[in-house]
Amino acid sequence: MAHRFLATIAIATLFHVSTAQVLSDSVISSVTSRLAEGATHSWELGTRAQAILELYAPDYSVFSPKSLPPPKTVPSDTTSGIAPVFDIAKATVSGRGSTTAQPKSLVPSDGSSGDPASIGIAVLLANWTGQTDENYSNAAQAQLDYLLNVVPRTSDGAISHRAEEVQLWSDSVYMVPPFLAYYGMLTENKTLISEAYNQIKLYRNYLRDGGANNLWKHIELGSFNDSGHWSTGNGWAAAGMARVLATIQHSSLASSFQNEQSDLASWVNEIHAGMYGKLDKTNIFTNYPDESGSFYDASSTALLAASVYRISLLVSDHSHIPLAERCRKALSSTNKGGMVHFSSDGWLTPVVNPNSFGVAGSNSPESEAFVLEMHAAWKDWVADGSKGSGAIRTLPHWKTLCLAGALGLVSLIL
Ligand SMILES: *[C@@H]1O[C@H](CO)[C@@H](O)[C@H](O)[C@H]1NC(C)=O
Ligand SMILES: *[C@@H]1O[C@H](CO)[C@@H](O)[C@H](O)[C@H]1NC(C)=O
Ligand SMILES: *[C@@H]1O[C@H](CO)[C@@H](O)[C@H](O)[C@H]1NC(C)=O
Ligand SMILES: *[C@@H]1O[C@H](CO)[C@@H](O)[C@H](O)[C@H]1NC(C)=O
Repeated sequence: MAHRFLATIAIATLFHVSTAQVLSDSVISSVTSRLAEGATHSWELGTRAQAILELYAPDYSVFSPKSLPPPKTVPSDTTSGIAPVFDIAKATVSGRGSTTAQPKSLVPSDGSSGDPASIGIAVLLANWTGQTDENYSNAAQAQLDYLLNVVPRTSDGAISHRAEEVQLWSDSVYMVPPFLAYYGMLTENKTLISEAYNQIKLYRNYLRDGGANNLWKHIELGSFNDSGHWSTGNGWAAAGMARVLATIQHSSLASSFQNEQSDLASWVNEIHAGMYGKLDKTNIFTNYPDESGSFYDASSTALLAASVYRISLLVSDHSHIPLAERCRKALSSTNKGGMVHFSSDGWLTPVVNPNSFGVAGSNSPESEAFVLEMHAAWKDWVADGSKGSGAIRTLPHWKTLCLAGALGLVSLIL
């Protein structure tokens, strides 16, 4: 009887937990399909590759707690998960108009010098795992040398995000330093790892707004600017820094970069503090978090939440977990018959137009990648014991206790 009573309490508590909002497998599967159909621009392809690694081939993501580099032979249970990443690498490398290692962007027609580098990790992985249908090694080296030796820089060395003039975008922190760090990790080249860190440090010097609680401005220098604190840009920066931190931490060179790792962790935290300080009761960020009348943007909300779970896992800084959890639950919430923040076919909403940062849009491929990254990061965080959620210290809700008690009595009687 006592056993049955306890079991009933356990079941009721479980029931309570399972009613917490979680994105279903079917939503995640739709989001994965929409992302596959929608991603066409260089940064969307690079971000899609990253999201796929994190969710479907986690041993090939820098966030895997296993040490880097990943296995050279792809295990059979990962072949299909990683296949879209190799497809992206192949399509990109076969389309770049060269087979040599001469300095060249992976997407030479792109106006951005930074965005195509986001695909570089897929290309490096294709080479690392021995794919030989294209010359991936030359393509990766050409992209690296283009960034290091061709792209214009500020006088103090920040690599421009644009090819035709020097202009710094917060977006670049997700596109360029993770590639430099990954290249450095695979080739055991400390100079490249230092350069990844140095680029982030330079970008932070230009874009961090000390007058706005350290939120990052979006675009500085060049023929126009966006000194607003674009939410997605803050997400790109935080998530890009988390990737570089993970790459260093899990590499054999980690002990040589202790100070760099602690800087990166504190710079991510700085963005989280600025952003989550602006979260309103909807638990969805607006497109510019500190501008009144800015529209709501679920896209940046997902990306920032992903980076919070990652930082919690990487450096046990759980300070923003409770707010990220609120955001994740808001994005996962349902009403009669449907998801509040997804269309019936799986597009996140509302979102900023991915091609026009000041304008509300729909069907944003990058937002779908951010959802997968949030889901992957959250799953890893749950598997690690949901640290920082406060769940263990908090007593179950009184209604749950009453329900458990009532069910327990019934089971005693029966
Ligand atoms: C790629 O090209 C380099 C020379 O540029 C060559 O050494 C290498 O074997 C080629 N790799 C593949 C996989 O074809
Ligand atoms: C590509 O793989 C080959 C063989 O492992 C290696 O020698 C080469 O350095 C790799 N290229 C890059 C850019 O990592
Ligand atoms: C590291 O990479 C840089 C940039 O490609 C290169 O100039 C340098 O020779 C490399 N260092 C080593 C030790 O391979
Ligand atoms: C930023 O752009 C605004 C409007 O285009 C302009 O007035 C301002 O001078 C620019 N600031 C810088 C630092 O370029």
